[in-house]
Amino acid sequence: MARMHNFSAGPAVLPLSVIEQLSCALADFQGCGLGLMEMSHRGKVFDDVIVGAEARFRKLIGVPDDYAVLFLQGGASLQFYMSALNLLGPGERADYLMTGVWSTKALKEAKRCSDAVAVWEQEGIPDHVPHPGSYTIREDSKYLHYTSNNTIYGTQFSALPEAGDRPLVGDLSSDIASRPVDVSRHAVLYAGAQKNLGPSGVCAVILSPWAVEQSRRADRLRPGGIPSMLSYDLMVKKSSMFNTPNTFGIYALDRVLAWVEDMGGVAAMTTRNEEKASLLYGELDRTGFWRPHARTDSRSQMNVTWRTPSPELDAAFVSEAAAAGLSGLKGHRSVGGIRASLYNACGIESVSALVSFMKDFESAKG
Ligand SMILES: Cc1ncc(COP(=O)(O)O)c(C=O)c1O
Repeated sequence: MARMHNFSAGPAVLPLSVIEQLSCALADFQGCGLGLMEMSHRGKVFDDVIVGAEARFRKLIGVPDDYAVLFLQGGASLQFYMSALNLLGPGERADYLMTGVWSTKALKEAKRCSDAVAVWEQEGIPDHVPHPGSYTIREDSKYLHYTSNNTIYGTQFSALPEAGDRPLVGDLSSDIASRPVDVSRHAVLYAGAQKNLGPSGVCAVILSPWAVEQSRRADRLRPGGIPSMLSYDLMVKKSSMFNTPNTFGIYALDRVLAWVEDMGGVAAMTTRNEEKASLLYGELDRTGFWRPHARTDSRSQMNVTWRTPSPELDAAFVSEAAAAGLSGLKGHRSVGGIRASLYNACGIESVSALVSFMKDFESAKG
């Protein structure tokens, strides 16, 4: 089997050992004579899977005991709306830090059901994240929303944004489990699984006790109440199983988390991710040929974005890299250029192979 070095932004590379376990689960799961995708989500076998996945997730991410954990469908994109719908009553306020496409989408959805506004934004294509003091939170706003890592532009908060006594709502889709996070500062923290946690189709959502209480309150305040499938309170009461969950996706998430545990946990991932990112940024800064996008104080360790001196060379780089076994390096369709995603499961050997290809490319074309 010849697997390429995979730099895809998501769905993204999974550890090979996880893929092997998943293939075993397809035909006969744990000797049941049935594949995991073929059995009831209400049975004991799947119950053990989801309970185990939640316990592992709580331990690895450091979720406080009084917080709830959900595994939902609808991706992070549904959470853009669901978080505002549940945390706010009609016309109530929330403030947003606009660091890229995903925060723009989050704000757009929140505006449908609340008085949500941008309190910080950068003109043009964002190349940095805000620093404390560069924005003011409105007095009666209930939370501050931020996107921890901007998958498209390759910028990332190096510390939690300043929010005074307001709780944070964080979209951690592209950097969850890549480094430690203080969950207790958050009312809601959500992450689509398809970058660092597993396959698409599962979204991990962490809720503070206040967030669950707000959900009950919003249900009372909103005319007609909150639709069942969008209610945090109901999803918590039903332990993510109000309807049929993504059973296979949740098992895959559990296996990815078990791999993270075996590798030494989130602390080991942090070191591994720092090493990979510094190897690649080191090459980008070496000669002046490459044009890294993000400002140095906002560089992402998960998605590294850059250009060559011309769009034609960018295209040549991406196609020659693919021919050399390096996949998924094309920048997002909205910005072009080059992007290498270095999620947890991307190994240092893949980054070394990329850097060595970059050196050859520069010698040939620079
Ligand atoms: C930071 C961020 N937020 C949200 C999303 C949207 O996620 P989903 O496709 O799961 O709705 C993405 C997808 O790439 C993302 O990178």
